[in-house]
This record gives sequence, structure tokens and C-alpha cells, in this order.
Amino acid sequence: MPSINQQIRERAARLRKEIEHHRYLYHVLNRQEISEAALDSLKHEIKKLEDEHPEIITPDSPTQRVAGQPLPELKTVRHGQRMLSLEDAFSPAELQAWEKRWQKLAPHVKTSYLVDLKLDGLAISIVYSKGLLTGGSTRGDGVTGEDVTHNVRTIESLPIRLRLDDLAAGERRQVVTGDVEIRGEVVMPKRVFQELNDHQKKAERPVFANPRNVAAGSIRQLDPKLAAGRKLDFFAWELVTDLGQPTLKASYDLIRKLGVKVNPRAVVCDGVKEVAALHQRIGKQRDDLPFQIDGLVVKVNDRQLYQRLGVVGKAPRAAVAYKFAAEQATTVVEGIKVQVGRTGALTPVALFRPVQVAGTTVSRATLHNADEIARLDVRIGDTVVIAKAGDIIPDVVQVLKNLRPRHTKPFHMPRHCPVCQQPAVRRQGEAIHFCVNHRCPARRREGLYHFASKKALDIDGLGPSTIDALVDEGIVREPADFFHLRADQLQELPLFAEKKAANLITAIAKSHQVPLDRFLFGLGIRHVGEQTAIDLGQHFRSVDALIKATAEEIADVPNIGSIVGESIVGFFQDPKNRKQVSRLRQILTIVPPQRPQSAKLKRKVVVVTGTLDQLSREEAHARIRAAGGTVGTSVTKKTTYLVAGENPGLKLEVAKKLGVQTIDEKTFLRMVE
Ligand code: IVH
Repeated sequence: MPSINQQIRERAARLRKEIEHHRYLYHVLNRQEISEAALDSLKHEIKKLEDEHPEIITPDSPTQRVAGQPLPELKTVRHGQRMLSLEDAFSPAELQAWEKRWQKLAPHVKTSYLVDLKLDGLAISIVYSKGLLTGGSTRGDGVTGEDVTHNVRTIESLPIRLRLDDLAAGERRQVVTGDVEIRGEVVMPKRVFQELNDHQKKAERPVFANPRNVAAGSIRQLDPKLAAGRKLDFFAWELVTDLGQPTLKASYDLIRKLGVKVNPRAVVCDGVKEVAALHQRIGKQRDDLPFQIDGLVVKVNDRQLYQRLGVVGKAPRAAVAYKFAAEQATTVVEGIKVQVGRTGALTPVALFRPVQVAGTTVSRATLHNADEIARLDVRIGDTVVIAKAGDIIPDVVQVLKNLRPRHTKPFHMPRHCPVCQQPAVRRQGEAIHFCVNHRCPARRREGLYHFASKKALDIDGLGPSTIDALVDEGIVREPADFFHLRADQLQELPLFAEKKAANLITAIAKSHQVPLDRFLFGLGIRHVGEQTAIDLGQHFRSVDALIKATAEEIADVPNIGSIVGESIVGFFQDPKNRKQVSRLRQILTIVPPQRPQSAKLKRKVVVVTGTLDQLSREEAHARIRAAGGTVGTSVTKKTTYLVAGENPGLKLEVAKKLGVQTIDEKTFLRMVE
């Protein structure tokens, strides 16, 4: 075994090599193999390792980079005032911490914030001498930048001569006699970028990675014709020159009067709470904006205070970049565990070194099945890129093979169930391995969780940990046993006081009467999900009728097919299942489900996506069902309508592709009323 120190050195060396590899692809070849967020995540890791072990720092480490050394071909310019960068915050808590930090240095001082969009472009300083554009330079290392005046002149949103008409007399005098320095961001509008890449594709030339790269690349060209052809845009974010403006808001107003563009969405906010709300709102509009942004910039509005707060490192204390959370990150797979579900399905789950993705900590993700593992070739010890698909479920999207430690082995699904050791088989044509043992304790346990869960019998207080305790004590083996529990038995369990035991007994008693669809769903029959159970309940209306039905009869029910038909018949043919069901039927009162109140959505399949204004997701589903419709979980060719709320995500795109009609909440409500 290499020593810990050796392991750290080796990890650091591999990280540096990998970061350099992606840097080269991205900046030199204009190609991208991993997302920027994933690359940032790797840079974070090397920074952290070197902070903890400074002795491992090498001169070629990406952490040692002096930002943006000027191209030798362009002239260099010394900035009158250093061009700074910003500290990042990723959550309301980090924003608050930033506020606390500066308030400590200026206690009891009140100020508002000027909040602007953080444009993802290239910082540029522009100098107007006696009102005329005379200089434009990149940030470079903050002290010295590159002279790009020739290219800056091609940007049409910048005037060659400042406007004087709207200025006060004093301001005007200063502008026409001295220098005015304005800083801001050069960006390429998304639309222009798209057109450019379409053009590249047609000409069979390589496409560009993102608008920022093209903007930066164009500005740093020697030949101004190139930049001129690229339709770049500019938004100012700082008036460096003191024209007597008391606040940053006044700076923005002045910049506009001078004829230079500032972002019209910049606003004054009264405190971090207001800023956090704005952050959420803008986050939702982000994709619809004409430019790429990666967060907000929050700046102390009072100009004197801003200056008094000074600089830490390379960043002003008085401003912070409140960024959108990365939706991708890298981490290391520490193990792969195989879980056994209620149908006996074996699911491989990757266990990670915990990492933040899109604002939450992720420590595990499903790897789905053997095919997916083989496709990714993910192994224990691997560094992986994880992403949150559709904002909820984390997913492994990539394995960074260059970072793979030596002596790893491909992962194979076990031949035996990890819980009962009986064979695990993969049926022909299926991707999933199943434990063959119907009495597998893991399957039984999962079946019990499912039976008591919200969409099935919905027994309050009967969650997985309570069920675990009941199973471990041998008190409960199958669902019917729940209904024979006694308070004194419960009180003997750890963590079960008198009150809690009584509550659970009451909750169980309440569940004696159950609608047929919930009962069917609770049985955990393979392929019978919530909506299928509802369709079956509406059609057959009693357990007996369903038991008597043939697979063909079941398959004939609208929205149900032969796979479900065969699965149900198979379930009821098994003597153990029959016995279990008959025990339950002796205890429970299974009632036919309510009929829909109308037939307005009869035979229609409706999918809901995004956040609705008036209805919760569950309420919307209930309305669909009450109108005789079927709730779909994903958009397919069979979907009749997609009801799209705010932040609709992927489903909307699929609907567009398939030509499925999309309606808004109002239209939907009118339909079902
Ligand atoms: S104010 C310290 N406002 O973000 C300089 N910067 O990560 C004060 N940026 O260097 C910056 N949009 O290149 C400010 N509305 C905005 C911005 C903005 C983009 C860039 C800028 C800055 C970098 C810091």
C-alpha cells in the first residue's frame, strides 16, 4: 500500500494533468469533453488538497497560474487602478455570511445594494480622453492588460464619443477636459453565437464551445475585421472615475447618460433577503435571457462605504458574486452497493464522497443496471461527473478515466442476491437482475414499506425504520400482520413510548377501510403503478372481478397492455400471494373507487410538469382523474396534453418534438371545470 502522503501526491498529479488536458481542449482546440462545472469541481479539489498540504504544490499547478498573461503580440497597458475579481457565494447562507463580514468592519452603517446580472463574458476597461474613446484593455493579471483598443472600437454598443447632453455642468466640464474610465463586460449574444456555429457547421469547420470563449477570442485578435464581424455587445458595470456620484446606482445612471449601455435589469435591493428572492426569480428566467449569465453581482450601493471597505486578496469586500449553483460536480466513487427492491429487482447504487450539486449534498446515485454500468465502465475508486437530471435525482453522467487509480476492477452484478444469497438472474431481453427467491427478506421488507406508504394504505407513523424494528423483532412478516399489532408489543420496541404506540394503533385502525385502487397498488404487483391501479380499480370494481379476469381481459382495459395483464394473472396464480390476499381481505373492507365526476378527459392522457400557480402536483392529478382522465408520468406519443407550469424542463421539449399539445394551467382548469 502506498503511504497516505504518496496517495495524495499521486492524486494531485493526476488532477493537474487532467485539468491541463481539459484546459487545452477548451482554450486551444475549442472543444469540450466535460462541463465547465465539472472542470471547476476538479480545480476545487486540487486547491483544497494544496491548501491542506502546501508541500505538494508544484510550479506548474493550475493553482499557480497568474491569470491571463498578455499575448506577446498585443501591446500591454498598465491599468490606472487595479482590475479586481469577486469572491463567490452559492447560497443565501453564504450571501448572509458575506454581509456579516463587511458589516463587522462598518458596524451600524446602513446601505442598500446594487444588484446586477453577472454576465459571462470578458472584463474590459475603456478609457475616454476628453470624451473620445482612446483606449480599451483586457484585465490581464489585474495590473497590466492587453491593449485591444482596435477591437473595442468595433463594438457598436460603445460610443466613439461620449454624450454630453444630459450631464450637469460640472460633470460635463470634467468629461471634456479629463479622462473617464468605464469598465464592463464584452459578451456575445446567444443568438449571434448560434448563428456563428451554424455557419461553422455548414462550412464543416469546428464549432465553438461557448459564447464567452468566442467573445474573448475575438477581442484578443490582432485584426479588427475579425472582431467587427462577430457582433459583440458590451454592458458597463463600473464607472471608475469620480464625477461626484454618491452611489453605484448613480454611477449606472451616469454611464447611461454618457451613452454607454448598462443592463436594464440592474436594481437596488434593500437587504440580502430581497437579493435572495431576486436570485431565485432570475434563475428561472436565465435560459430565456439573450446573454449567458452565471449569477448576480451584489454591490454595496454607497460609493464611499464601498471604497472604505477595501480589498481582501484580489476582491473588494463590498461586492460578491452570488452564483447559480453548479448542476454538475465531480466526486469519487467509494463503493457500489446492490439494493434489493420489492419486486426482487437488484439495483446497483454508487456511494460517493459527499459533494454539493445544485445546492444539495449528494452522497449516492443509482447506477440503474448492468448495462448502464458497462456503458459507463464505472468502478470503485473512479472519479465521476455527477449531474442532477431534472433537478431532483442525481445521476452519474461520465467517468474520468484518466483519474482512475491503478488496479481497479470492472464492476459486475453479483450472481447471488446480496441479502438471501439465492441466485440472481437476468431474464432474456431485460436489463435488470432479479433475486429468484420470493421469500427474500429484502423483498419482503420492501414490500411492507410499500404497502404502508402514502400512495398505498397510507398508514401514518409506519415508515421504514418502524417497519425495520417490527421485522427485526419477528413481529411482522407480511402486511396482514400489521393489523394484529398490539400496543404492548409496540411499547417493547426501542424508541416506542406509550403515546407513539397508541398513535400507531389508531392509524392502523383507520386504514381498515381502503379503496380498491390503493389496495391493488399496495400489493406491489410488478408493473402495477399508481395510475394502473386506478385504471384497474375503475374497470373491475372488486378484487374478485380482477382475480377472475384473464390476461387478455385485463390487457383490454384502456391504457393497460399485455405485460400488465400477464403480471397480474401470474401474481394471483401464486398460492402464496393468494393466501396473503385472502388474509388481508378477511381483515380489510375494500371499497370500490369513486367514479369520476365527469367524462371531460375520458380516454385522455395528461401529464403535468413544472410548478403550477394554483394547484399542487397532487391536486392537479386529482383533477385529471376526477374528470375521467389518466395521469401520465412521462410525455409519449400517447400523451394528449402536457400541462406546463413554471420551469417546465425537459418534458416541454419532448412534447414539442412529439407534437403533443401543451396547455397552461388556466386552460387546464377551464377544461376540467
Ligand atoms: S462588478 C471587482 N458587475 O465578473 C470588480 N462584475 O468574477 C467589480 N462581471 O471581474 C465587478 N458581470 O468581469 C461586476 N454586473 C457585473 C458583472 C461583473 C460580470 C464579471 C467581471 C468581474 C467578474 C468577477
